[in-house]
Amino acid sequence: MIKMQDFKVTPWEVEGKVDYEKLVREFGLKFVDDNIINRIKNHTKELNVMLRRKFFYAHRDLDLVLDDFEKGKGFFLYTGRGPSGPMHIGHLIPFYFTKWLQEKFNVNLYIQITDDEKYLERELSFEEVQKWSYENILDIIAVGFDPNKTFIFKDTEFMGNIYSLAVKISRKINFSVVKAVFGFKESSNIGILFYPAIQIVPTFFENKRCLIPAAIDQDPYWRIQRDIAEYFGYYKAAEISSKFLPPLTGMQGKMSASNPRSAIYLTDDEKTVKEKVMKYAFSGGQATIELHRKLGGNPYIDVSFQWLYSFFEDDDDRIKKIEEDYKSGKLLSGELKEILIEKLLSFLEKHKEKREEAKEIIHLFMRDGELAKEMRKNRF
Ligand code: TYM
Repeated sequence: MIKMQDFKVTPWEVEGKVDYEKLVREFGLKFVDDNIINRIKNHTKELNVMLRRKFFYAHRDLDLVLDDFEKGKGFFLYTGRGPSGPMHIGHLIPFYFTKWLQEKFNVNLYIQITDDEKYLERELSFEEVQKWSYENILDIIAVGFDPNKTFIFKDTEFMGNIYSLAVKISRKINFSVVKAVFGFKESSNIGILFYPAIQIVPTFFENKRCLIPAAIDQDPYWRIQRDIAEYFGYYKAAEISSKFLPPLTGMQGKMSASNPRSAIYLTDDEKTVKEKVMKYAFSGGQATIELHRKLGGNPYIDVSFQWLYSFFEDDDDRIKKIEEDYKSGKLLSGELKEILIEKLLSFLEKHKEKREEAKEIIHLFMRDGELAKEMRKNRF
Protein backbone atom coordinates (compact mmCIF):
# COMPACT_ATOMS: atom_id res chain seq x y z
CA MET A 1 0.00 0.00 0.00
CA ILE A 2 1.38 3.37 -0.95
CA LYS A 3 0.16 5.97 1.47
CA MET A 4 2.04 9.21 1.31
CA GLN A 5 1.38 12.52 2.89
CA ASP A 6 -0.75 13.84 0.05
CA PHE A 7 -2.20 10.83 -1.68
CA LYS A 8 -3.03 7.15 -1.44
CA VAL A 9 -3.23 4.39 -4.08
CA THR A 10 -4.39 0.82 -3.45
CA PRO A 11 -6.38 -1.49 -5.76
CA TRP A 12 -9.48 -0.35 -3.84
CA GLU A 13 -8.86 3.29 -3.10
CA VAL A 14 -7.33 6.34 -4.72
CA GLU A 15 -7.28 9.55 -2.71
CA GLY A 16 -5.75 12.95 -3.32
CA LYS A 17 -3.71 14.10 -6.28
CA VAL A 18 -1.65 11.16 -7.47
CA ASP A 19 2.05 11.80 -8.01
CA TYR A 20 2.64 9.33 -10.83
CA GLU A 21 6.40 9.76 -10.89
CA LYS A 22 6.63 9.02 -7.19
CA LEU A 23 4.54 5.86 -7.66
CA VAL A 24 6.94 4.58 -10.28
CA ARG A 25 9.90 5.20 -8.02
CA GLU A 26 8.26 3.72 -4.91
CA PHE A 27 6.77 0.70 -6.68
CA GLY A 28 9.99 0.15 -8.67
CA LEU A 29 8.63 0.30 -12.23
CA LYS A 30 10.30 1.85 -15.26
CA PHE A 31 8.99 4.73 -17.33
CA VAL A 32 7.70 4.05 -20.82
CA ASP A 33 10.37 6.03 -22.71
CA ASP A 34 10.90 6.80 -26.40
CA ASN A 35 13.28 3.90 -26.66
CA ILE A 36 10.69 1.29 -25.75
CA ILE A 37 7.98 3.08 -27.73
CA ASN A 38 10.16 2.89 -30.84
CA ARG A 39 10.78 -0.80 -30.24
CA ILE A 40 7.02 -1.35 -30.12
CA LYS A 41 6.53 0.74 -33.25
CA ASN A 42 8.97 -1.49 -35.14
CA HIS A 43 6.38 -4.24 -34.85
CA THR A 44 3.11 -2.33 -34.80
CA LYS A 45 4.00 0.29 -37.44
CA GLU A 46 1.63 2.82 -35.87
CA LEU A 47 1.20 3.78 -32.22
CA ASN A 48 -1.95 3.80 -30.17
CA VAL A 49 -2.87 7.25 -28.87
CA MET A 50 -2.51 6.10 -25.26
CA LEU A 51 1.08 5.07 -25.93
CA ARG A 52 1.98 8.09 -28.08
CA ARG A 53 0.79 10.45 -25.35
CA LYS A 54 2.25 8.23 -22.59
CA PHE A 55 -1.06 7.71 -20.81
CA PHE A 56 0.31 4.17 -20.48
CA TYR A 57 3.41 5.50 -18.87
CA ALA A 58 5.12 2.82 -16.79
CA HIS A 59 6.14 -0.79 -17.20
CA ARG A 60 7.91 -3.83 -15.84
CA ASP A 61 9.83 -6.12 -18.19
CA LEU A 62 8.19 -4.83 -21.35
CA ASP A 63 11.67 -4.98 -22.89
CA LEU A 64 11.84 -8.71 -22.07
CA VAL A 65 8.37 -9.24 -23.55
CA LEU A 66 9.59 -7.66 -26.78
CA ASP A 67 12.76 -9.80 -26.69
CA ASP A 68 10.59 -12.92 -26.39
CA PHE A 69 8.34 -11.75 -29.20
CA GLU A 70 11.31 -11.06 -31.46
CA LYS A 71 12.80 -14.47 -30.70
CA GLY A 72 9.51 -16.13 -31.68
CA LYS A 73 8.69 -17.35 -28.18
CA GLY A 74 5.76 -14.96 -27.96
CA PHE A 75 3.82 -13.82 -24.92
CA PHE A 76 0.24 -13.63 -23.74
CA LEU A 77 -2.02 -10.88 -22.38
CA TYR A 78 -4.04 -10.83 -19.18
CA THR A 79 -6.37 -8.20 -17.76
CA GLY A 80 -9.60 -8.03 -15.77
CA ARG A 81 -12.57 -6.31 -14.23
CA GLY A 82 -14.14 -6.35 -10.78
CA PRO A 83 -17.92 -6.31 -11.42
CA SER A 84 -19.05 -3.95 -8.66
CA GLY A 85 -21.47 -1.85 -10.72
CA PRO A 86 -21.90 -0.25 -14.13
CA MET A 87 -18.65 0.44 -15.96
CA HIS A 88 -17.50 3.98 -16.58
CA ILE A 89 -15.29 5.29 -19.35
CA GLY A 90 -12.15 4.90 -17.20
CA HIS A 91 -12.75 1.18 -16.69
CA LEU A 92 -13.04 0.59 -20.42
CA ILE A 93 -9.83 2.35 -21.41
CA PRO A 94 -7.40 -0.47 -20.50
CA PHE A 95 -9.56 -2.83 -22.55
CA TYR A 96 -9.19 -0.63 -25.63
CA PHE A 97 -5.46 -0.61 -25.17
CA THR A 98 -5.43 -4.37 -24.63
CA LYS A 99 -7.41 -4.86 -27.82
CA TRP A 100 -4.85 -2.83 -29.74
CA LEU A 101 -2.02 -4.98 -28.35
CA GLN A 102 -3.89 -8.19 -29.19
CA GLU A 103 -4.50 -7.04 -32.75
CA LYS A 104 -0.94 -5.88 -33.37
CA PHE A 105 0.86 -8.83 -31.79
CA ASN A 106 -1.80 -11.45 -32.53
CA VAL A 107 -1.62 -13.02 -29.07
CA ASN A 108 -3.94 -14.82 -26.65
CA LEU A 109 -5.78 -12.82 -24.02
CA TYR A 110 -7.33 -13.94 -20.71
CA ILE A 111 -9.88 -11.67 -19.01
CA GLN A 112 -10.68 -12.37 -15.37
CA ILE A 113 -14.05 -11.27 -13.96
CA THR A 114 -13.54 -11.10 -10.22
CA ASP A 115 -17.06 -11.53 -8.85
CA ASP A 116 -15.52 -13.10 -5.72
CA GLU A 117 -13.37 -10.03 -5.07
CA LYS A 118 -16.27 -7.59 -5.36
CA TYR A 119 -18.58 -9.73 -3.24
CA LEU A 120 -15.92 -9.89 -0.52
CA GLU A 121 -14.87 -6.28 -0.66
CA ARG A 122 -18.18 -4.44 -1.12
CA GLU A 123 -21.57 -4.42 0.56
CA LEU A 124 -23.22 -6.08 -2.45
CA SER A 125 -25.38 -9.19 -2.54
CA PHE A 126 -24.09 -12.21 -4.45
CA GLU A 127 -26.94 -11.78 -6.95
CA GLU A 128 -26.03 -8.15 -7.58
CA VAL A 129 -22.45 -9.10 -8.33
CA GLN A 130 -23.66 -11.78 -10.78
CA LYS A 131 -25.85 -9.24 -12.55
CA TRP A 132 -22.96 -6.78 -12.87
CA SER A 133 -20.68 -9.56 -14.09
CA TYR A 134 -23.00 -10.20 -17.03
CA GLU A 135 -23.50 -6.50 -17.78
CA ASN A 136 -19.78 -5.75 -17.59
CA ILE A 137 -18.85 -8.71 -19.79
CA LEU A 138 -21.10 -7.29 -22.52
CA ASP A 139 -19.30 -3.94 -22.26
CA ILE A 140 -15.94 -5.70 -22.51
CA ILE A 141 -16.94 -7.79 -25.53
CA ALA A 142 -18.20 -4.60 -27.23
CA VAL A 143 -14.57 -3.44 -27.36
CA GLY A 144 -14.07 -5.95 -30.17
CA PHE A 145 -11.69 -8.69 -29.07
CA ASP A 146 -10.90 -11.68 -31.27
CA PRO A 147 -13.16 -14.50 -29.99
CA ASN A 148 -10.67 -17.12 -31.12
CA LYS A 149 -7.91 -15.63 -29.03
CA THR A 150 -9.81 -14.35 -26.01
CA PHE A 151 -11.11 -16.22 -22.99
CA ILE A 152 -13.32 -14.42 -20.47
CA PHE A 153 -13.94 -16.28 -17.21
CA LYS A 154 -15.75 -15.49 -14.00
CA ASP A 155 -13.96 -16.59 -10.84
CA THR A 156 -16.79 -18.32 -8.99
CA GLU A 157 -17.71 -20.25 -12.13
CA PHE A 158 -14.22 -21.21 -13.31
CA MET A 159 -12.74 -21.78 -9.85
CA GLY A 160 -12.59 -25.56 -10.16
CA ASN A 161 -10.04 -25.11 -12.93
CA ILE A 162 -7.81 -22.74 -11.04
CA TYR A 163 -8.19 -23.69 -7.41
CA SER A 164 -5.17 -25.97 -7.28
CA LEU A 165 -3.02 -23.13 -8.63
CA ALA A 166 -4.52 -20.66 -6.17
CA VAL A 167 -3.82 -22.98 -3.25
CA LYS A 168 -0.20 -23.46 -4.27
CA ILE A 169 0.30 -19.75 -4.74
CA SER A 170 -1.39 -18.90 -1.45
CA ARG A 171 1.06 -21.04 0.55
CA LYS A 172 3.89 -18.79 -0.66
CA ILE A 173 2.24 -15.54 0.46
CA ASN A 174 2.30 -14.63 4.15
CA PHE A 175 -0.31 -12.57 5.95
CA SER A 176 2.36 -9.99 6.79
CA VAL A 177 2.96 -9.41 3.07
CA VAL A 178 -0.69 -8.88 2.07
CA LYS A 179 -1.22 -6.79 5.17
CA ALA A 180 1.63 -4.49 4.21
CA VAL A 181 0.75 -4.39 0.51
CA PHE A 182 -3.04 -4.05 0.69
CA GLY A 183 -3.53 -2.62 4.16
CA PHE A 184 -5.64 -5.54 5.48
CA LYS A 185 -6.78 -5.27 9.09
CA GLU A 186 -7.87 -7.60 11.90
CA SER A 187 -11.45 -6.89 10.81
CA SER A 188 -10.85 -7.86 7.14
CA ASN A 189 -12.83 -10.95 6.20
CA ILE A 190 -10.78 -14.08 5.51
CA GLY A 191 -12.03 -14.34 1.92
CA ILE A 192 -10.36 -11.11 0.87
CA LEU A 193 -7.11 -12.19 2.55
CA PHE A 194 -6.96 -15.16 0.17
CA TYR A 195 -8.14 -13.20 -2.86
CA PRO A 196 -4.72 -11.88 -4.01
CA ALA A 197 -3.71 -15.48 -4.81
CA ILE A 198 -6.66 -15.67 -7.21
CA GLN A 199 -5.75 -12.52 -9.12
CA ILE A 200 -2.20 -13.86 -9.49
CA VAL A 201 -3.27 -17.25 -10.93
CA PRO A 202 -3.86 -16.15 -14.57
CA THR A 203 -0.28 -14.85 -14.85
CA PHE A 204 0.65 -18.57 -14.98
CA PHE A 205 -1.90 -19.61 -17.62
CA GLU A 206 0.71 -20.16 -20.33
CA ASN A 207 4.35 -20.97 -20.13
CA LYS A 208 5.22 -17.67 -21.74
CA ARG A 209 5.72 -14.20 -20.36
CA CYS A 210 2.44 -12.61 -19.29
CA LEU A 211 1.91 -8.94 -20.13
CA ILE A 212 -0.73 -7.12 -18.10
CA PRO A 213 -2.24 -3.85 -19.34
CA ALA A 214 -4.08 -2.06 -16.49
CA ALA A 215 -4.03 1.16 -14.51
CA ILE A 216 -1.23 1.47 -11.96
CA ASP A 217 -3.58 0.63 -9.05
CA GLN A 218 -3.29 -3.09 -9.88
CA ASP A 219 0.50 -3.11 -9.53
CA PRO A 220 0.54 -4.41 -5.91
CA TYR A 221 -0.63 -7.84 -7.14
CA TRP A 222 2.13 -8.02 -9.70
CA ARG A 223 4.76 -7.10 -7.11
CA ILE A 224 3.77 -10.12 -5.05
CA GLN A 225 3.59 -12.31 -8.17
CA ARG A 226 7.12 -11.29 -9.11
CA ASP A 227 8.42 -12.37 -5.72
CA ILE A 228 7.07 -15.90 -6.07
CA ALA A 229 6.92 -16.66 -9.82
CA GLU A 230 10.39 -18.08 -10.15
CA TYR A 231 9.87 -20.44 -7.24
CA PHE A 232 7.24 -22.11 -9.41
CA GLY A 233 9.52 -22.08 -12.47
CA TYR A 234 7.47 -19.36 -14.18
CA TYR A 235 8.11 -15.90 -15.54
CA LYS A 236 7.71 -12.79 -13.47
CA ALA A 237 4.64 -10.92 -14.70
CA ALA A 238 5.30 -8.03 -17.06
CA GLU A 239 3.03 -5.01 -17.08
CA ILE A 240 2.23 -1.83 -18.90
CA SER A 241 0.45 0.53 -16.58
CA SER A 242 -1.58 3.66 -17.15
CA LYS A 243 -2.47 6.73 -15.20
CA PHE A 244 -6.11 7.18 -14.19
CA LEU A 245 -8.50 9.02 -16.40
CA PRO A 246 -9.28 11.77 -13.87
CA PRO A 247 -12.76 12.16 -12.42
CA LEU A 248 -14.87 14.81 -14.15
CA THR A 249 -14.92 16.80 -10.96
CA GLY A 250 -11.16 17.50 -10.88
CA MET A 251 -7.70 15.98 -10.96
CA GLN A 252 -7.94 14.34 -7.52
CA GLY A 253 -8.89 10.78 -6.59
CA LYS A 254 -10.67 8.51 -9.06
CA MET A 255 -14.09 8.21 -10.63
CA SER A 256 -16.36 6.65 -8.11
CA ALA A 257 -19.73 4.94 -8.05
CA SER A 258 -20.57 6.77 -4.84
CA ASN A 259 -20.27 10.07 -6.72
CA PRO A 260 -22.05 9.67 -10.09
CA ARG A 261 -21.08 13.21 -11.04
CA SER A 262 -17.47 12.15 -11.12
CA ALA A 263 -17.84 9.72 -14.04
CA ILE A 264 -19.50 9.15 -17.39
CA TYR A 265 -21.07 5.70 -17.37
CA LEU A 266 -21.37 3.64 -20.52
CA THR A 267 -25.13 3.63 -19.95
CA ASP A 268 -25.48 7.43 -19.62
CA ASP A 269 -27.88 8.96 -22.15
CA GLU A 270 -27.29 12.08 -24.22
CA LYS A 271 -28.94 14.45 -21.78
CA THR A 272 -26.98 13.10 -18.82
CA VAL A 273 -23.67 13.30 -20.68
CA LYS A 274 -24.28 16.91 -21.69
CA GLU A 275 -25.39 17.86 -18.22
CA LYS A 276 -22.51 16.16 -16.43
CA VAL A 277 -19.84 17.67 -18.68
CA MET A 278 -21.37 21.14 -18.72
CA LYS A 279 -22.07 21.27 -14.99
CA TYR A 280 -19.34 19.21 -13.38
CA ALA A 281 -16.31 18.88 -15.67
CA PHE A 282 -13.61 20.79 -13.85
CA SER A 283 -12.46 23.68 -15.96
CA GLY A 284 -9.05 25.28 -16.31
CA GLY A 285 -10.69 28.39 -17.75
CA GLN A 286 -10.92 31.85 -16.24
CA ALA A 287 -13.87 33.18 -14.24
CA THR A 288 -15.18 35.46 -17.00
CA ILE A 289 -15.00 35.43 -20.80
CA GLU A 290 -13.08 38.72 -20.75
CA LEU A 291 -10.46 37.33 -18.39
CA HIS A 292 -10.26 34.09 -20.37
CA ARG A 293 -9.66 35.95 -23.64
CA LYS A 294 -6.96 37.98 -21.90
CA LEU A 295 -5.19 35.34 -19.78
CA GLY A 296 -6.11 32.06 -21.49
CA GLY A 297 -6.98 28.73 -19.87
CA ASN A 298 -4.89 26.00 -18.28
CA PRO A 299 -5.38 22.72 -20.21
CA TYR A 300 -3.26 20.76 -17.73
CA ILE A 301 -5.83 20.99 -14.96
CA ASP A 302 -8.84 21.03 -17.28
CA VAL A 303 -10.56 17.65 -17.16
CA SER A 304 -12.21 18.01 -20.60
CA PHE A 305 -8.80 18.61 -22.14
CA GLN A 306 -7.26 15.73 -20.20
CA TRP A 307 -9.94 13.31 -21.44
CA LEU A 308 -9.45 14.47 -25.02
CA TYR A 309 -5.68 14.25 -24.70
CA SER A 310 -5.57 10.83 -23.05
CA PHE A 311 -8.05 9.01 -25.24
CA PHE A 312 -10.79 10.78 -27.16
CA GLU A 313 -8.89 13.01 -29.63
CA ASP A 314 -6.65 10.73 -31.64
CA ASP A 315 -5.51 13.40 -34.11
CA ASP A 316 -2.18 14.90 -32.97
CA ASP A 317 -2.55 18.12 -34.98
CA ARG A 318 -6.05 18.69 -33.70
CA ILE A 319 -5.14 18.18 -30.03
CA LYS A 320 -2.16 20.52 -30.40
CA LYS A 321 -4.45 23.19 -31.84
CA ILE A 322 -6.99 22.72 -29.05
CA GLU A 323 -4.20 23.03 -26.48
CA GLU A 324 -2.80 26.18 -28.02
CA ASP A 325 -6.15 27.84 -28.63
CA TYR A 326 -7.19 27.13 -25.06
CA LYS A 327 -3.95 28.52 -23.67
CA SER A 328 -4.20 31.65 -25.77
CA GLY A 329 -7.81 32.27 -24.78
CA LYS A 330 -9.15 31.79 -28.30
CA LEU A 331 -11.03 28.65 -27.25
CA LEU A 332 -13.48 29.10 -24.39
CA SER A 333 -14.15 26.58 -21.67
CA GLY A 334 -17.70 25.95 -22.89
CA GLU A 335 -16.40 25.34 -26.43
CA LEU A 336 -13.84 22.88 -25.15
CA LYS A 337 -16.60 21.05 -23.29
CA GLU A 338 -18.64 20.91 -26.50
CA ILE A 339 -15.75 19.19 -28.27
CA LEU A 340 -15.59 16.57 -25.53
CA ILE A 341 -19.38 16.08 -25.50
CA GLU A 342 -19.40 15.41 -29.24
CA LYS A 343 -16.66 12.79 -28.87
CA LEU A 344 -18.35 11.15 -25.90
CA LEU A 345 -21.74 10.95 -27.60
CA SER A 346 -20.40 9.35 -30.76
CA PHE A 347 -18.27 6.94 -28.69
CA LEU A 348 -21.25 5.92 -26.53
CA GLU A 349 -23.59 5.51 -29.48
CA LYS A 350 -21.21 3.07 -31.16
CA HIS A 351 -20.57 1.33 -27.86
CA LYS A 352 -24.27 0.74 -27.25
CA GLU A 353 -24.69 -0.84 -30.70
CA LYS A 354 -21.71 -3.14 -30.22
CA ARG A 355 -22.96 -4.02 -26.75
CA GLU A 356 -26.26 -5.26 -28.22
CA GLU A 357 -24.35 -7.42 -30.68
CA ALA A 358 -22.26 -8.78 -27.81
CA LYS A 359 -25.34 -10.54 -26.40
CA GLU A 360 -25.31 -12.83 -29.43
CA ILE A 361 -21.64 -13.79 -29.17
CA ILE A 362 -20.96 -13.89 -25.43
CA HIS A 363 -20.77 -17.72 -25.52
CA LEU A 364 -17.82 -17.54 -27.94
CA PHE A 365 -15.76 -15.74 -25.35
CA MET A 366 -16.72 -17.84 -22.33
CA ARG A 367 -16.64 -21.30 -23.91
CA ASP A 368 -14.43 -24.07 -22.71
CA GLY A 369 -12.41 -23.83 -25.92
CA GLU A 370 -8.79 -23.73 -27.01
CA LEU A 371 -7.63 -21.14 -24.49
CA ALA A 372 -9.25 -22.86 -21.52
CA LYS A 373 -7.57 -26.09 -22.67
CA GLU A 374 -4.23 -24.32 -23.03
CA MET A 375 -4.61 -23.06 -19.48
CA ARG A 376 -5.44 -26.51 -18.10
CA LYS A 377 -2.50 -28.08 -19.91
CA ASN A 378 -0.25 -25.61 -18.19
CA ARG A 379 -1.65 -26.08 -14.68
CA PHE A 380 1.07 -26.97 -12.21
P1 TYM B 1 -11.50 -2.67 -11.72
O1 TYM B 1 -12.80 -3.27 -12.11
O2 TYM B 1 -11.43 -1.76 -10.54
O3 TYM B 1 -10.94 -1.86 -12.96
C1 TYM B 1 -10.90 -2.40 -14.27
C2 TYM B 1 -9.68 -1.85 -14.99
O4 TYM B 1 -9.79 -0.42 -15.13
C3 TYM B 1 -8.65 0.22 -14.58
N1 TYM B 1 -9.13 1.52 -14.10
C4 TYM B 1 -8.89 2.69 -14.73
N2 TYM B 1 -8.14 2.97 -15.81
C5 TYM B 1 -8.07 4.26 -16.20
N3 TYM B 1 -8.71 5.26 -15.56
C6 TYM B 1 -9.47 5.03 -14.47
N4 TYM B 1 -10.07 6.02 -13.87
C7 TYM B 1 -9.58 3.69 -14.01
N5 TYM B 1 -10.23 3.08 -12.98
C8 TYM B 1 -9.96 1.76 -13.07
C9 TYM B 1 -8.11 -0.76 -13.55
O5 TYM B 1 -6.76 -0.57 -13.28
C10 TYM B 1 -8.37 -2.09 -14.25
O6 TYM B 1 -7.36 -2.34 -15.20
N6 TYM B 1 -9.09 -6.36 -9.29
C11 TYM B 1 -9.40 -5.82 -10.61
C12 TYM B 1 -9.87 -6.90 -11.60
C13 TYM B 1 -8.74 -7.68 -12.19
C14 TYM B 1 -7.71 -7.15 -13.01
C15 TYM B 1 -6.88 -8.27 -13.32
C16 TYM B 1 -7.45 -5.89 -13.51
C17 TYM B 1 -8.50 -9.01 -12.03
N7 TYM B 1 -7.37 -9.40 -12.71
C18 TYM B 1 -5.77 -8.10 -14.15
C19 TYM B 1 -6.34 -5.73 -14.32
C20 TYM B 1 -5.50 -6.83 -14.63
C21 TYM B 1 -10.45 -4.74 -10.52
O7 TYM B 1 -11.23 -4.71 -9.62
O8 TYM B 1 -10.42 -3.84 -11.57
